Amino acid sequence: MRAVAVFPAEKKIKVVDHPEPRRERETDVLLEMLDVGVCGTDREIARFDYGTPPAGADYLVLGHESLGRVLEVGSDVTRVERGDLVVTMVRRPCGHADCRSCAAGRQDFCFTGDFTERGINGRHGFMTEKVVDDHQYMHVVSPELREVGVLVEPLTIAEKALIQVWDVQERLPWTVAGQAEGDGHGQRAVVLGAGPVGLLGALALIIRGFDTWVYSLEAEGSPKAKWVESVGGHYASGKTTSLEQLKDKVGNIDLVYEATGAVAVSFHALSVLGTNGVFIFTGVPGRKGPIELEGDDLMRNMVLSNQLVFGTVNAGPDAFEASVADLARFYGRWPEQVKALITGRFTPEQAEDLLIGPPSGIKRVVTFAELG
Ligand code: BGC
Repeated sequence: MRAVAVFPAEKKIKVVDHPEPRRERETDVLLEMLDVGVCGTDREIARFDYGTPPAGADYLVLGHESLGRVLEVGSDVTRVERGDLVVTMVRRPCGHADCRSCAAGRQDFCFTGDFTERGINGRHGFMTEKVVDDHQYMHVVSPELREVGVLVEPLTIAEKALIQVWDVQERLPWTVAGQAEGDGHGQRAVVLGAGPVGLLGALALIIRGFDTWVYSLEAEGSPKAKWVESVGGHYASGKTTSLEQLKDKVGNIDLVYEATGAVAVSFHALSVLGTNGVFIFTGVPGRKGPIELEGDDLMRNMVLSNQLVFGTVNAGPDAFEASVADLARFYGRWPEQVKALITGRFTPEQAEDLLIGPPSGIKRVVTFAELG
């Protein structure tokens, strides 16, 4: 079957004839792949800066953002049925008995770093025609989400972040007590970056009732700015608005959701985080050398303003569940805007261009089946 693969030793990307996977255990599920998203991580792997083939293989099949349809299930499969649309999780446990997070099924918090990830580290991915995996890693998506279900995985980044925000902001008793669902705890959020992770994060914040600003390089009045405004957010362009001016527009910035991987602007944004604020890093920057930071100010601000900064990667089952549920809510409320996040569907043969050509659009998808 066809699969899009990177060959690190040869520094090549090819469509290969990859062996069809078989179900080996009664908990295994066979999927036909429908859509596979391309993200910054895939592009980094395609630049050979990241990613590892499975032990003994000379290539890695790419793809970790997926939507598949169940073709066959083993007799012990309980989570999915034939015909279901499913999104499969990315990371698998490290297998070390003393890794408490992996032992608890939370390999997204793996201590040892010996986890594997489908399409990224040590396991083939989903950019191929058929896939087998254990049902425990699969999350069912309703058929109405066929066109946009591939957005579940990139949305899990925000979902995992927001689950943690809820935990840490419970330190502020007045934000929790007596609050109705969807009131955003009366808080104001800034999203840095208007790529898929940023825009999906903005939807997750808006639907929870945060007064949400997206800050990115595109001009005010640009299609992305209009998209943000059409879902009830505000947009400020980094080209014409400094972070200090943004702070004046927003008021106390209670939350920053960083989705750029751009180091200088992110740390600068940390300096405008408000009192009792929380700052979430999600971007993985390339190694571009040192930058200058106003360390005294940052540290003063963090201490004197009770701030909290955390990084987050990958996602556990709770974030996948939340993502499936939220994507359905987003799609119900803003169907056109959610569809507009997918800016192109391409054949596996066109994948190389998506991986190494200039970035464009929002989310581009390699597709193995017609919509419908
Ligand atoms: C994926 C995560 C993965 C991370 C690091 C991201 O693009 O969405 O699942 O853990 O890359 O490899």
